[in-house]
Amino acid sequence: MTEPLRLGIAGLGTVGAGVVKIVQRQKQLLSARAGRPIEISAVSARSRDKDRGVSLDRYGWEDDPVALAKRADVDVFVELVGGDDGPAKAAVEAAIATGKHVVTANKAMLAHHGQPLAEAAENAGVSLRYEAAVAGGIPVIKALTEGLAGNGISRVMGVMNGTCNYILTRMDDAGLTYEEAFAEADGLGYLEADPELDVGGIDAAHKLSILAAIAFGTRVDFDAVALEGIGAITIEDIRRAGDMGYKIKLLGVAQMTGRGLEQRMSPCLVPDTSPLGQLVGGTNMVVLEGDAVGQVVLRGAGAGEGPTASAVLADVMDIARGVRLPTFGQPAATLAAPKPASAQSPGAYYLRLLLTDKPGALAKVATVLGEAGISIDRMRQYDHPGDLAPVLIVTHKTARPNLDRALGDLPGTGVVTEAPVALRIEEV
Ligand code: HSE
Repeated sequence: MTEPLRLGIAGLGTVGAGVVKIVQRQKQLLSARAGRPIEISAVSARSRDKDRGVSLDRYGWEDDPVALAKRADVDVFVELVGGDDGPAKAAVEAAIATGKHVVTANKAMLAHHGQPLAEAAENAGVSLRYEAAVAGGIPVIKALTEGLAGNGISRVMGVMNGTCNYILTRMDDAGLTYEEAFAEADGLGYLEADPELDVGGIDAAHKLSILAAIAFGTRVDFDAVALEGIGAITIEDIRRAGDMGYKIKLLGVAQMTGRGLEQRMSPCLVPDTSPLGQLVGGTNMVVLEGDAVGQVVLRGAGAGEGPTASAVLADVMDIARGVRLPTFGQPAATLAAPKPASAQSPGAYYLRLLLTDKPGALAKVATVLGEAGISIDRMRQYDHPGDLAPVLIVTHKTARPNLDRALGDLPGTGVVTEAPVALRIEEV
């Protein structure tokens, strides 16, 4: 019989237990598809006795993930511990140093240390795979590195944090405040131990920086992602954006421009009829644009036991079949350090203003925009609470410095009663 592929699994939380379940439940299917049995030699976690809904009796046990990574009966070290540094990274380094392949779901580790880990893996002749790190069950790494390998990629976009999309969806469809929707997500166990990873956009930015590296042949540059979370989004803006035909999403965009590599993770408006606009709940969506293929839209579960374990198994199966790909789609040594974009590409913006309701107020606003070189596409004024006039403006495309100049000048008109809200409208 062909030699089995032997796994050592570190981290037996939701995802780790899910991987064990699939290996047990789909034994025959995996073996048939890989051409060899997939087995688990040993596991490692913080607590040995915890009930994980799956039997671990026949596997070896290690308290220390580094010891697991070094075991002679492990061919593939599956890292599901998490954390960008510490035990996860130490164990991955130990695995690579002892000639083991690595499969990980650890987006933070790859966003911060992807380049040296990829170089170490490629120098050691082992695979470092991470389908589960980006958009959970969506096979987006495979899509970029294999399915679209013949394309020059022009743009990668996506909603890659299900928790944020859940919160924004509940604000929209149930009229909850941000705080109420956040509490609901918390009650459902959606939030990371540090919620700022979710609502601050950091988790999604980790994922975007990894996709950008593959798409544009550059080293991962997480620090260059322009980052803004969803904490300042109000029901008022969700409603008003809806009136103008848009949904608000925490949207990641990476594109190579004449100004350099642009990476943004921020709340944006997208047309409510677009696939991104129609994405509701905790689901993820990644949009890939290639010069030959055009636009490809991938949608699916971005987290959870089954979807994330499914992605881990995809990598395990490739390793079992003997597929060996460079970590980021081309040899790590050939990846260039990206030049971060000096400025955002021009975009249209949604502006919400609360003006004093008196003659000439709107004219003053229009003058400020005009003097900043901003042209108005659409405008709407709403019912007046007292002597204040809520005004929505959708601009034509403009450079961000023009917008910043206008935002800086608006208070000087004397008619703007609170800080204007400005959100980018993304062409999707
Ligand atoms: N917390 C993430 C999300 C899943 O809500 O999508 C892990 O990256």
